[in-house]
Amino acid sequence: LFQPVRRNARGFDLGDIADLDCIEGARRPYHARRFEARPLLADGAAAEGAEGHDHPNPADPADIVGTVYDASPGDVERAIEAARPWPASPRERGNILERAAELYERDFGEILAIVAREAGKNLLDAVGELREAIDFLYYYARQSRQLEPEPRGRFACISPWNFPLAIFTGQIAGALAAGNAVLAKPAEQSPLTAAKGVALLHEAGVPVSALQFLPGDGARVGAALTADSRIDGVAFTGGTETAQAIHRSMHGNLDPGAPLIAETGGLNAMIIDSTALHEQAVRDVIASAFQSAGQRCSALRCLYVQEDVRDDFMRMLLGAMDELRLGNPWHLSTDVGPVIDAEAATAINDHVAAARRQGRLIKQVEAPESGHFVGPAVIEVDCIDDLEREVFGPVLHVAGYQAEDLDAVIDAINARGYGLTFGVHTRIEDRVQHIVDRVHAGNLYVNRNQIGAIVASQPFGGEGLSGTGPKAGGPDYVPRFARGTPQPAIG
Ligand code: NAD
Ligand code: ALA
Repeated sequence: LFQPVRRNARGFDLGDIADLDCIEGARRPYHARRFEARPLLADGAAAEGAEGHDHPNPADPADIVGTVYDASPGDVERAIEAARPWPASPRERGNILERAAELYERDFGEILAIVAREAGKNLLDAVGELREAIDFLYYYARQSRQLEPEPRGRFACISPWNFPLAIFTGQIAGALAAGNAVLAKPAEQSPLTAAKGVALLHEAGVPVSALQFLPGDGARVGAALTADSRIDGVAFTGGTETAQAIHRSMHGNLDPGAPLIAETGGLNAMIIDSTALHEQAVRDVIASAFQSAGQRCSALRCLYVQEDVRDDFMRMLLGAMDELRLGNPWHLSTDVGPVIDAEAATAINDHVAAARRQGRLIKQVEAPESGHFVGPAVIEVDCIDDLEREVFGPVLHVAGYQAEDLDAVIDAINARGYGLTFGVHTRIEDRVQHIVDRVHAGNLYVNRNQIGAIVASQPFGGEGLSGTGPKAGGPDYVPRFARGTPQPAIG
């Protein structure tokens, strides 16, 4: 009778010195440990002789976080052949996924350490990552028991590096909750974090035949999975263009009924009108645009500020940016860590350099010289159409608008075809409702930042070019991995 409605990760209070001490003590042993990721196959050891390669820390490339052995084409073939839907009952599946959540809690120190060293996440982000992974496990475990879903068969789960544990775990847990056999391919930038998650899921009791692990790059391992007629569905999170390529490769190879669950990128906007509380809006813009070094699909890319308050607001925003501390994410004082690798840093820096040449760079915070850091930057634009694409880093584009042009601004944002997150700061209640009714976005946030959706409370996902749905962490997610659910197509 008094069972809690849902279980969540226990979390940490980062303002409490006792919690910080506890975290420090638990992760210290992993500060210099070398981790390993290699293919895990149901029919035995992966092919011998594969060359391992060093995997560096993006904040400090001299720190080798571990060794990665990529899956060969032969490993992919063997994994597909050996995959078997999970024979456990829905109740047992739920119990085992909950047990996995408890193991993630148990090993929090090791997980926080790997996530910091492999993905460059500062403590705030690393704790959020761990919590979200655990919340997914609890939430989908419960759905397995309640819905008793029937598996489709073999699911390829292909994930991005920016949530190397949370999204990796969420996709797998969703597919497993429905009883499928999972072939898990992590992003090539984050296989060590993923390997830890797989080890804990196996320790909890998920059989290897129901969860095999295939590290490797997208073009070889990912593409081999999504073009194979023995695959019954694909869960993908990553770039919109990659999702479109996967959609094409599934077409004609996989059964036409095989679902593609795609969660992709966005050109996310926020509107600040003349009634917004500046202090609050500044704090929320900084978090939305620069937390996680801007490497969130939900991150704010294009800010519209009403002209009447634009100068005042911008003065406060630019001043607040001077307080941001960039550095190694391991240090507790770090606000902004590195971007994921040299290629990402070059692409973002090229974008900022082009704005500087055009005289449109308003500000860039200085970045450390070693490691793959990009200083948070603000670029002036006339409107969202000046953004060619999602720039996946700490770069905020800012435009002004006149009060009477609000609807035209929203229509221009909608017209880009994405629809992931949207933020609004206003103290006029009717305006909130007007904007909610007009905007096309999966997640809309009012008078707060627009990142960090919480599993079950804020199911997360977009529309149009931002994804197919169903929203992750929501009631429709697990049913999409099961038989008997209609499948929408990607926009
Ligand atoms: P990406 O598309 O480059 O890669 C994602 C995954 O797809 C990786 O595992 C990669 O190896 C694999 N892949 C690449 N090419 C493939 C192919 N041809 N066939 C099969 N698999 C292939 O994305 P990324 O750089 O890892 O992640 C950043 C992107 O992800 C951003 O656009 C971001 O907005 C998006 N993202 C979206 C969400 C969401 O919930 N909507 C969440 C996180 C990230
Ligand atoms: N769920 C993640 C967020 O909301 C992507 O930031």
